[in-house]
Amino acid sequence: MAYTLPLLPYTFSALEPYLDAKTMQIHYEKHHSGYVEKLNKGLALYPQWKDVSLEDLLCNWEQLPYEIQQLVRNQGGGHWNHTFFWQCMDPASSQISLELLSLVEKQFGTFDAFKDAFIREAVGFFGSGWTWLVVDRLGQLRLYSTPNHDHPGRFGFFPLLVVDLWEHAYYLKFQNRRLEFITAWWNVINWSFVSEQYTAYRVKEN
Ligand SMILES: [Fe+2]
Repeated sequence: MAYTLPLLPYTFSALEPYLDAKTMQIHYEKHHSGYVEKLNKGLALYPQWKDVSLEDLLCNWEQLPYEIQQLVRNQGGGHWNHTFFWQCMDPASSQISLELLSLVEKQFGTFDAFKDAFIREAVGFFGSGWTWLVVDRLGQLRLYSTPNHDHPGRFGFFPLLVVDLWEHAYYLKFQNRRLEFITAWWNVINWSFVSEQYTAYRVKEN
């Protein structure tokens, strides 16, 4: 079955004034849909991989035929990461779960210190990529950035939250001011979704 562009869980203007509608529309309709289109086109000649989950393909792309390794890594990664990214945002405010909050405070000291560390990591990352909050193999939270569209599962990490650092995510409104973009984006994080990912991690590990 071919990959499809998932429905955006809100309107293009729903995240205003933090993220502008035009950027959201271009990001979703042009960039994300382009990844889906190229992924499907490239995999059309390789039906033997259609039943493997995209996450598994992304974590093990070097085991694929050489001709489609970079296609899956880049276009497939673009599809997976954007699908996750849209869900990490929501116009309604939500709360981080007490369970996840207590781990954040244990590791970072305070929630504000965690916020500062996340923003610092995202602003400091060079080039296009993604900054993630992940759970590592030891069950510890970690801030981690991946270049291009690489998936954190490749490194044994379980993703909870991500922000898109590609300029297409912010250039229309913020130009080169990545710090302003990340700071604005922080206001629309869907903490319910992030907390659900942590619950899913706990279920998976037990
Ligand atoms: Fe993007």
